[in-house]
Amino acid sequence: MGEPILNLIASPVDLAKEYEEIEQLTSDMIATLNYGGEKTGLAAPQVFVSKRVVIFRISKQSKSRYESVVGEEIPLTIMINPSIKPMSNVLEDGYEACLSVPGLMGIVPRYRDIEYTYSDLEGKTHCVRASGFHSRVVQHECDHLDGLLYPKRIKDLSNFGFSDVMTGIVP
Ligand code: NI
Repeated sequence: MGEPILNLIASPVDLAKEYEEIEQLTSDMIATLNYGGEKTGLAAPQVFVSKRVVIFRISKQSKSRYESVVGEEIPLTIMINPSIKPMSNVLEDGYEACLSVPGLMGIVPRYRDIEYTYSDLEGKTHCVRASGFHSRVVQHECDHLDGLLYPKRIKDLSNFGFSDVMTGIVP
């Protein structure tokens, strides 16, 4: 947090022209995601590339860290040029953390139900409905592509703090 690149609108990817560098980028991002323990998602601006690329996965472990929701597990997904459409105006509060905001966490309102669309590395378009934690993760990661870190979305900053303190009070 504080790096100017994290506040920029990232550029769309043209896979026909950039395939090799984007494939290398996603491979580097996966290595970063896997480095040193379980992490949920990463957006290209977080590794200093201002391109519309996101990777994420949802495991039982990542889910149980912040909330006790039982839902589907999502395998590692690479999203090129993702976009999000809310399916209703219902917002849900939930805890979030971020590799770019180490040591902190906070309560962020997000759309409960979304539909998101993205291209995979082969250029195939996918359209997915998501709710709950899955929906939250996709919104958090796509925010990075529009220069938004989650603290900007916290409504009450008394719900923002150090993870080791907050974890003690998360119900
Ligand atoms: Ni993040």
